Amino acid sequence: MTIKEVQDEIIRLKKENDICILAHSYQAREILEVADFTGDSYALSEMAAKAENSTMLMCGVRFMAETVKILSPQKKVILSNPVAACPMAEQMDVELITQMKEMYPDHVVVAYINTTAALKTVCDVCVTSSSAVKIVSRLDADNILFIPDCNLGDFVARQVPEKHIRLVQGGCPVHAAVTSRHVEQAKKLHPDAELLVHPECVPAVTSMADYVGSTSGIMNYAINSDKKEFIIGTENSIAEHLQYMCPDKKFYCLSKSLICENMKSTTLVDVLNCCKGIGGEEIVLDDDTISKARKCIDEMIRLGS
Ligand code: 13P
Ligand code: SF4
Repeated sequence: MTIKEVQDEIIRLKKENDICILAHSYQAREILEVADFTGDSYALSEMAAKAENSTMLMCGVRFMAETVKILSPQKKVILSNPVAACPMAEQMDVELITQMKEMYPDHVVVAYINTTAALKTVCDVCVTSSSAVKIVSRLDADNILFIPDCNLGDFVARQVPEKHIRLVQGGCPVHAAVTSRHVEQAKKLHPDAELLVHPECVPAVTSMADYVGSTSGIMNYAINSDKKEFIIGTENSIAEHLQYMCPDKKFYCLSKSLICENMKSTTLVDVLNCCKGIGGEEIVLDDDTISKARKCIDEMIRLGS
């Protein structure tokens, strides 16, 4: 079968089986083309809450599929490839955060959405990269324990200096591997390009950027900018998607190592198999986890909109 034939079959099957396909912006182009909704973590959560299909197919990583299940427990939620996990989401466990809450009882626990459903049950509010600054600044609390990404937490702390933000040592291994040396090399090669980076990058990198934002934020900035050249400091698929969307502009990858193997583990054939009902993994969460984790996702949507 050609890619087009597989895509046509997916489109036919998703209608026949009442499936809504959600795809994170890091997915391959051929998957984005068959999705009902694409975007960053925040947009996908909002879409998941609104969609009326009986089955939701998440092309992304496990915590994203869990978020859909938490928001729509009555729906069947499938993760398109069971191996697609976000290593950052697994970095901290309930025991550690419970101990930290005992150490800092006056702190509100803000969890990046890149956390497991289990971890969300002991947190107060979730944030995504696009909503973190807004939500933290709106919180009715001065002391915040921000988990698990210390780089995003540091970025938020710089934008909201009036809050006291306590960080813990965690983060995205893909983005955190980029250094200021990569920035210097890229700027030397492309002196006229603007640098757009994700807040999961280390402070030495975000402080050199012209724009810091979520995957959708970076894409919107580049699409709407009058500038012609951009160095993209997030997963390299974003530079590729932008190059298709804006053929008159030039996009360069900040580092060739900016590849998320987990996001890339989903293939178009995985999506086809899920639509046939023979692949992926159904997300199952118990009622207690769903109701406790839902509180901090609802709080994110309330404060973020
Ligand atoms: P976004 O919310 O920007 O889509 O980020 C998700 C993510 O995992 C980035 O690495
Ligand atoms: Fe997780 Fe990093 Fe991959 Fe995003 S890029 S899904 S934070 S490992």
